[in-house]
Amino acid sequence: MSGSNTYPPAPEFSAKAHVGSLDAYLELCQQAAAHPEEFWAGQAEREIEWFEKWSHVFEWRPPFVKWFVEAKLNASHNCLDRHLGKRGSKAAIIFEGEPGDKRTLTYAELHSEVCRFANVLKGRGLKPGDRAIVYMPMVPEAVVAMLACARIGVTHSVVFGGFSAEALKARIQDLDAHAVITADAGWRRGKEVRLKDAVDEAVAECPSVSSVIVHKRTGSAVSMKEGRDHWWHELEEGVTAECPAERLDAEHPLFVLYTSGTTGKPKGILHTTGGYMTYVTSTMKWVFDLKEDDVFWCSADIGWVTGHSYIVYGPLSAGATCIMYEGAPDHPQWDRWWEIIARYKATIFYTSPTAIRALIKQGEAWPAKHDLSSLRLLGSVGEPINPAAWEWYYRVIGKERCPIVDTWWQTETGGILIAPMPGAVALKPGSGTLPMPGILAEVVDFDGKPVARGAEGFLIIKRPWPSMIRTIWGDPERFEQQYFSRIPGIYFTGDAARQDEDGYFWILGRVDDVMNVSGHRLSTMEVESALVRHPAVAEAAVVGKPHEITGQAVCCFVTLKQGDWNHHELAQELRKWVAHEIGAFARPDEIRFADALPKTRSGKIMRRLLREIVTTHSVEGDVTTLEDLGVVTKLASQHDEE
Ligand code: PRX
Repeated sequence: MSGSNTYPPAPEFSAKAHVGSLDAYLELCQQAAAHPEEFWAGQAEREIEWFEKWSHVFEWRPPFVKWFVEAKLNASHNCLDRHLGKRGSKAAIIFEGEPGDKRTLTYAELHSEVCRFANVLKGRGLKPGDRAIVYMPMVPEAVVAMLACARIGVTHSVVFGGFSAEALKARIQDLDAHAVITADAGWRRGKEVRLKDAVDEAVAECPSVSSVIVHKRTGSAVSMKEGRDHWWHELEEGVTAECPAERLDAEHPLFVLYTSGTTGKPKGILHTTGGYMTYVTSTMKWVFDLKEDDVFWCSADIGWVTGHSYIVYGPLSAGATCIMYEGAPDHPQWDRWWEIIARYKATIFYTSPTAIRALIKQGEAWPAKHDLSSLRLLGSVGEPINPAAWEWYYRVIGKERCPIVDTWWQTETGGILIAPMPGAVALKPGSGTLPMPGILAEVVDFDGKPVARGAEGFLIIKRPWPSMIRTIWGDPERFEQQYFSRIPGIYFTGDAARQDEDGYFWILGRVDDVMNVSGHRLSTMEVESALVRHPAVAEAAVVGKPHEITGQAVCCFVTLKQGDWNHHELAQELRKWVAHEIGAFARPDEIRFADALPKTRSGKIMRRLLREIVTTHSVEGDVTTLEDLGVVTKLASQHDEE
């Protein structure tokens, strides 16, 4: 790891960067560590417009924190209204639909769309504190919906359009949501993703939902339930674009975003307003070195936290021009992204290692067809980036001119915590490098004691930061138990890491039963619960197995109930079943049928052994607690039933 190449910042880059030297970076870290209140108050004043200032900067009663106590602001005001003077005619969103339709919304236009839709929501009876689900394709109306909610104090929860009706229903019910904002369908690889059909299926069992608002995207036929369902454009008729932003408390719940935990039930991660906005806006400058004329493109979906923080709230609060693309990178062919970068002269491009690996596989001829010279900075997020993928991204896309910011963070952290400041910190492929100012990251052992440089341990964050998770929606005990009990009072990330001799962080992956498939978090238990709901399945154990493109793939070990099953057909059916229960992105890569699963004498499934089997095809680890060794030998000698 320490022997890998290092890439110091180019002097031309540093000369223009917000943070232009290692000393300047260290100085910021020093100030933030020594005087956190002063430091964050300074950031909050510089980056955010407040209706009323705080009585004190933060209040930390572990595990609960409040930032900018008693201050008042509005996230939508910060993303829109405050830019109208200077940036009213600047492009806020440059949108390209998958079929090729194009649209640019200036800050003034986005502002008036948001105000009108906020009035529509008010007209449907929504008020501060209510919850609305956003289940939309990647179209500007998704951003409008989020900002309209924020404008009137409605807490939004965006559900990724790839989630199934079942997953959507569970989220609506957990939140007792009042409204669902959706579209007839969206485009993906030339096919329609029929969102409204899924909403109909989900909402049938959600009595809390009184309104479903439907944006017309593809124009295909959908059913509309009288009294409950309304077309967005019809509700907007005659509605004004006058809608003052609510004065909301800094701790007002801005959004809840569900992510996978270690049980079958997803966790609703709650983020609030003042601290979140301060932190995501700060990192736009620190990590992306955002300048007034940048064209910023984050290829994530708004259904994940990356989309929330670095398509919507961070870039718009910082006054950036953002590209938004609806569809798949290979539609109609594998140069769609490069074409988009060239067409809109993107300067900053932020994507995932999985996408990079998929693009590498298609060859260098695709990017070579397009002029990528507008790019000046590249980013990576969601999973460790292997050095080979890093080097390709650097050479083929960045032409050895663009620094790559490998950004480590989580749904819970709200914003990027570990990443290089590109004008200040030398890069090492595969390392997220160093923490942001005020982020006291450490690698510790089981007892919470720091480990030696080079040794592996758990990654923890020792002090609260403004954009951290506030609680798990409706479950403060689980919040405390998950994040603050491993080492009492200290945030436990669930990741393993090590620091090299330069203090650089190398993230090694999860230490819990959470898989990372294509940079999406998925719990083994969630897939197991889905499998055992199928009538043929007796027991299921799920592990992540290494995968060349997606990082990890879902591998399921299944035992069956009595019956005469055709394994080949059943494997196909179970794949479909999981996609139906959770979403297509969770579809298992491999189903292995077994006579029995390895268990401890107390009956717990030993996933560790199964992980070893799928990774190395044998078992070397400790099997002393195993009940029946024969089960493991048999599994290790078996291959996929497919
Ligand atoms: O294991 C880490 C991995 O993704 C997890 C967080 O997943 P999620 O909440 O879905 O957020 C993903 C987007 C921020 C982390 O616990 N992870 C994320 N970024 C990186 C990473 N692992 C290594 N390097 C990264 N840059």
